[in-house]
Amino acid sequence: MTLPPAEWIARAEQILPVECHAGFRASLEEPRPTWLRVNTLRISPEQAWEALAEAGLDPAPGPWSEAIQVPVAQRLDVLRHLLHREGLLYAQSLSSQAASRVLDPQPGEDIVDLCAAPGSKAGHLAALMGTGCLIANEVSKGRSYKLKDVLFRLGALDRPGLDVRIRTGDGVRFRGHKDAFDRVLVDAPCSGEGRFHVQDPASWQGWSLRKIKGCASKQKALLHAALDAVKPGGVVVYATCTLAPEENEGVISRALARYPDVRLEPLPLTLQGSLPGLTEWNGKAFAPTITEHARRLPPGPLWDGFFLARLKKG
Ligand SMILES: C[S@@+](CC[C@H](N)C(=O)[O-])C[C@H]1O[C@@H](n2cnc3c(N)ncnc32)[C@H](O)[C@@H]1O
Repeated sequence: MTLPPAEWIARAEQILPVECHAGFRASLEEPRPTWLRVNTLRISPEQAWEALAEAGLDPAPGPWSEAIQVPVAQRLDVLRHLLHREGLLYAQSLSSQAASRVLDPQPGEDIVDLCAAPGSKAGHLAALMGTGCLIANEVSKGRSYKLKDVLFRLGALDRPGLDVRIRTGDGVRFRGHKDAFDRVLVDAPCSGEGRFHVQDPASWQGWSLRKIKGCASKQKALLHAALDAVKPGGVVVYATCTLAPEENEGVISRALARYPDVRLEPLPLTLQGSLPGLTEWNGKAFAPTITEHARRLPPGPLWDGFFLARLKKG
């Protein structure tokens, strides 16, 4: 069994508090929990519970109505089940589901998912808003085909009152749509440290401090574009699946310095076991509102490693 680089493990244990170290170490080797999202565009949570029980599976409730956990040993059975193959259920980590819940889209709004492929969160946003306009943007042409497939399978592309548009291009271009949208999700491309796992050595291939720096610079441009594109009074959620403070608190810190009319808000839901943002990293202190309002989801039995911050303009 090959572990991720020792340098990275030591750094991660500097970033995470001591009480999270055992869960973090276990998360590198143990199977990930299997979470499903009920696709409420197609089926109610009650119907999903009934169908899973009828199939002989053992569902357990999650923190919100559309999140359901099944035992790891039943993962393959669930993925092969008609409900999953036909898009009534969707396998999606709880951390990924949390991002759309934190954006909290409302019916009738104009929303952008700036980095949308393969479409897990865009599908969730579509279901939560029910009506309105959602632009699902992705820079990679290949990945935007996958995005279209997923949104089609979830039934998000042909729903009356819901206009879901797929766009292929650099999300930074959205800075040209000034003050245009109610909410923007920036689920940023990142170094992916929150998902490193021994069964997937490719997950940490190419990891380096240099890569982290490169990601931070792209993330900064994407977050600034989102803040330009959101209306005064609108909300931007910034999410990554990495532990690296340079890509998380560091990116938020630069955005707050650049946009004096933007402030961080508390997340609209409690995320069990989540941690506050770091107060400092490598001698650089972060604003107290970052520590107070941004949340880190530590990799462990519940969460994939994740970072979430909710910013309000004006
Ligand atoms: C973390 S993944 C998004 C996952 C997606 N939100 C979901 O829930 O399924 C980041 C995505 O951003 C895309 N990306 C990278 N750079 C981008 C850019 N400049 N503009 C838009 N998308 C970008 C990547 O190709 C990748 O698909």
